[in-house]
Amino acid sequence: MLRAEDNRFLTQSDAGTPMGDLLRRFWLPVLLSKELPEADGPPKKIVVMGEELLAFRDTRGVVGVIDQYCPHRGANLWLGRVEECGIRCVYHGWKFDTDGQCMDMPTSYPDLSAKDLIRIKSYPVREWGEMIWAYMGPAGEVPELPALEMALVPASHRFVSKKWQDCNWVQALEGSIDTAHFTFAHLAFDKDEDEILDIKKHFINPISRVSTDHMRWIAQDPRPVIKINPHEAGLTIAGGRIASDDNIYWRIAQFLMPVHSYAPSAMPGDSIFGQSFVPVTDTSCWIYTYAWNPERPLTSAEREAYSHGHGVIADVDENYVPLRNKSNDYLIDRKLQKTKSYTGIKGVSEQDAAVQDSQGPIADRTREHLGPTDLGIMHFRKLIMETARELLEGTAPPHLAHQARYAVRSGGCVTHKEKDLPAVMIERFGDPAGYVGQQYIAAAE
Ligand code: FES
Ligand SMILES: [Fe+2]
Repeated sequence: MLRAEDNRFLTQSDAGTPMGDLLRRFWLPVLLSKELPEADGPPKKIVVMGEELLAFRDTRGVVGVIDQYCPHRGANLWLGRVEECGIRCVYHGWKFDTDGQCMDMPTSYPDLSAKDLIRIKSYPVREWGEMIWAYMGPAGEVPELPALEMALVPASHRFVSKKWQDCNWVQALEGSIDTAHFTFAHLAFDKDEDEILDIKKHFINPISRVSTDHMRWIAQDPRPVIKINPHEAGLTIAGGRIASDDNIYWRIAQFLMPVHSYAPSAMPGDSIFGQSFVPVTDTSCWIYTYAWNPERPLTSAEREAYSHGHGVIADVDENYVPLRNKSNDYLIDRKLQKTKSYTGIKGVSEQDAAVQDSQGPIADRTREHLGPTDLGIMHFRKLIMETARELLEGTAPPHLAHQARYAVRSGGCVTHKEKDLPAVMIERFGDPAGYVGQQYIAAAE
């Protein structure tokens, strides 16, 4: 439970709010690269943390993210023409490059060089992992890009998409690191047969090594023990369920400051799913969703499955709005709910969205009752709020200096019950934080 002012502190991200200032210190995805497919193609309006911005790809293929409104008299530059390494406002012809510098000001006397004095707000941009990232923080303090493994692997090893969501980004992220909710939100069963359904058909990955046994352990134990391990990039959040007298089935998620999380299901060899939650306003967000396989290219069966929604990846329309969404009640099927799943909603991603949206546009954390399975949520809140408070007092987030340590993995495993979390992590990933970056450094050398 949070006090009302703490809930506002946690969830508000406009410029000048403490959490907004914290998020702005990190690179954030703001578009998929394929949303700006061609040089000099049409620009794209984007809203990030309440800021109305415009993204365009110039003649060289370089992407700019600038203010949406022209500094002359405020016409919307979305109407503008992208031409010769800039975008030209179609009201009076002022033109800007990807760095925000005014390149041409046809309305001024040619000998005055007034254009040299004019800039439009612009943010540094990078393309990384087939996403367009912007840094919206103070100039001169631009960090490295986070070494997310999905961006380190070859393009053939990953699939990238996104989905619109009608709620505050924090409750969506909290859902993603809450490994306890699988038992009710995601399990599929056949009530008549008293059977847990074949998860290869219903969940995660068509060739996943997660088995019906794993699902049975999840079904039988709705109260996983939660273990937390802080590391340089964020938090490892593990949920352990009883698998046998001697063994625990661990599902290990990662939270990476400030907006990324990795799903806990992948068994060794499986593709891993991740999400990055980027506020549009305080009551809506884009969730960048991706899957990658560290060891091999994705198969065409996986790509086909992902393109119709699978795991955290939603089944979306051409504007990346989920086909099953708040406006159509996620196509909830009450008959299915009686016989095949608790939710009656198809799709893991859509089940997540339904419960997260249902908490309200901004979840009211003054009325909640947290329990032992919410430990990961508590640690996430503590970490991100303390980091924001320290930033208010002038201390930069320590994670900014460790962007290389973001190369971690998440996943599941079955281990002896006596092992503590660091030992489980070493057994599963070879490192207590799940860090795998050294292999990419070695490969680059
Ligand atoms: S409003 Fe853009 S050039 Fe005048
Ligand atoms: Fe979920």
